[in-house]
Amino acid sequence: ASSLKGRDFLALADYSSEEIRYLIDLAIDIKQKQKAGEIYQPLKGKTLGMVFEKSSTRTRVSFEVGIYQLGGQGLFLSRNDLQIGRGEPIWDTGQVLSRYLDGIMIRTFAHKIVIDLARSSTVPVINGLTDAAHPCQALCDYQTVLEHKGRLEGLKIAYIGDGNNMTHSLLMGAAKLGMNMSVASPEGYEADPDIVAQTKAVAASTGSVIQMCRDPREAIENADVVYTDVWASMGFEAEQKEREIAFANFQVNEELAKYAKKDYLFMHCLPAHRGEEVSEGVIDGKNSIIYDQAENRLHAQKAIMAAIM
Ligand code: CP
Ligand code: NVA
Repeated sequence: ASSLKGRDFLALADYSSEEIRYLIDLAIDIKQKQKAGEIYQPLKGKTLGMVFEKSSTRTRVSFEVGIYQLGGQGLFLSRNDLQIGRGEPIWDTGQVLSRYLDGIMIRTFAHKIVIDLARSSTVPVINGLTDAAHPCQALCDYQTVLEHKGRLEGLKIAYIGDGNNMTHSLLMGAAKLGMNMSVASPEGYEADPDIVAQTKAVAASTGSVIQMCRDPREAIENADVVYTDVWASMGFEAEQKEREIAFANFQVNEELAKYAKKDYLFMHCLPAHRGEEVSEGVIDGKNSIIYDQAENRLHAQKAIMAAIM
């Protein structure tokens, strides 16, 4: 996969099915090395800049620890400290940061900011979450499913809730990996139709079935994996109250989970709101693999960095 050197990691749509599988296999391999206490430092002397315009627990810590374990160094750059907070153009920021860094990870609002940063940078740019996508999370999620189920192709993932960045990246990943995916969202909170159309075009070539529905019971029926995310993502906090009303029938709870397969896996990218998008019984129950998911952020992102930086 020397072909991945120098590439950006902005969305799963930019990667072929084979490349995504390669990254998952590499993540599993890197994880085994780390568990065995083996030193693996292909990025000795390299520096990753980590630009954050939104809060983070997992992304920040897993990238910083990940680059360190690969032999390099991470630099935490918050919006408040950078000149972008005072209006310096992204174009200049990308050009300048490229003169110091070997890679840039960015978490921001509009997806266009990440695209513009990648265009202006001469070093690889990694999307650590935008309003439109969260590809690092989806990659580690599918690694986690593979580890638990032993396969991906033909499995059904059901996503219940807000048609947000997670939905988009999970949809594209499912289509690329030959998985079937059903999404149930309330009216007005559906996934972006352009991304759904793109996903369906990919699905047509890989044989996966993508279904958008309204009824959570229809989406979850016979699912191998049940996924949900917060009702109000970062940047949408002001809509919390109206969203609680719109999403009232979209909670993943014991009653709804009865329609999934008995050995279904419950997944959530975290942070979660117990009692809102998911009941305590489900998220803390025996089918939940939320902490395996969170752990795999580290391994999957080490794979991304080792491959492209
Ligand atoms: N899942 C995830 O990206 O978590 P953080 O917001 O804590 O980084
Ligand atoms: N959809 C959530 C994911 C957080 C990791 C958000 O954007 O806030």
